[in-house]
Amino acid sequence: TKRAGVIGIGSFVPEKVLTNLDMEKIVDTSDEWILTRTGIKERRIADENTATSDLATEAAKKALESANVKPEEIDLIMVATVTPDMAFPSTACIVQKNIGASKAAAFDLEAACSGFIYGVTIGKQFIETGMYKKILVIGAETLSKIVDWSDRNTCVLFGDGAGAVVLGEVDENEGILSAYLGADGLGGEFLSQPAGGSRIPASVSTVNDRLHYIKMEGSEVFKFAVRIMGESAKKALELANLSSEDIDFIVPHQANIRIIESAAKRLKVSMDKVYVNLDRYGNMSSASIPVALNEAYTKGMVKKGDNVVLVGFGGGLTWGSALLKW
Ligand code: ACO
Repeated sequence: TKRAGVIGIGSFVPEKVLTNLDMEKIVDTSDEWILTRTGIKERRIADENTATSDLATEAAKKALESANVKPEEIDLIMVATVTPDMAFPSTACIVQKNIGASKAAAFDLEAACSGFIYGVTIGKQFIETGMYKKILVIGAETLSKIVDWSDRNTCVLFGDGAGAVVLGEVDENEGILSAYLGADGLGGEFLSQPAGGSRIPASVSTVNDRLHYIKMEGSEVFKFAVRIMGESAKKALELANLSSEDIDFIVPHQANIRIIESAAKRLKVSMDKVYVNLDRYGNMSSASIPVALNEAYTKGMVKKGDNVVLVGFGGGLTWGSALLKW
């Protein structure tokens, strides 16, 4: 049987840095509050002329280069995002045009912060059935564009960026050993951008009522996240016939250091095996995991043969995990 794996990886973040001290000038907050409650010190922010596809395109180019794959070899492009350039055409079609991947099918997928893991899981199926040989999976966001910059409960948490992988066929004993996805629509109300779709179309009143921004019940999401990160990671291990002791490295979704630490504790894995970069980027939703994975790989922290757990959660509610034999 065929086995899918990561054969190239890349990431891209905007240059502009917004520190916690900068946030103090925007809303009633403090560096101390943000740091102790979340672990975030600064985040990257796209300028007004930059959209999600621009970040996605740069990350995709780097992933292709690292895989030594030409754009025309790509069979499918998936962009996981909650901040598409527009409702349609899809951001994936815009990336397809930008990189010249003329033979690729393209679509966006939306599973909030779990989107990248959903994408990798979908890509794995196409490669393992033999339908496609090379697939680009991109997680890309410009959350700064949908954050309410007058709401201190949310605006301090998020940042912009993009990460991409090329999936291809690998040896049978490596690659994506397992993947697990879940959802609970009952918790949908805890994290949403209410207006702009068919339920509440855009109008002057939706703009005045600030309904195009992220709304979040932080403590509900927190409780859910702490529980699901551990459960979900265990599921991926179980499906690969492995246990916590077999974990060499974890790349979790980067929402809050307290969520990551309690998940690590529940898995009985020490924090030196867990990659953290939310101090520099905040929560980049679907981009968090691929950007973190790329950094860990570039720094030599994940090595050939390592068992790497990817695990995330997000709006929907959604969650997912995957076990990569690097
Ligand atoms: N600066 C100062 N004070 C603040 C700030 C801020 N930036 N934000 C909130 N506060 C205040 C609130 O007003 C509130 O004050 P009050 O008690 O007087 O009303 C208090 O701090 C909030 O306290 P808690 O809710 O107890 O804060 P908590 O420790 O739970 O931290 C946080 C809040 C950071 C939002 C946390 O709940 C969290 O990280 N939740 C998960 C969020 C998350 O992961 N979201 C993304 C999901 S991924 C996706 O799909 C996009």
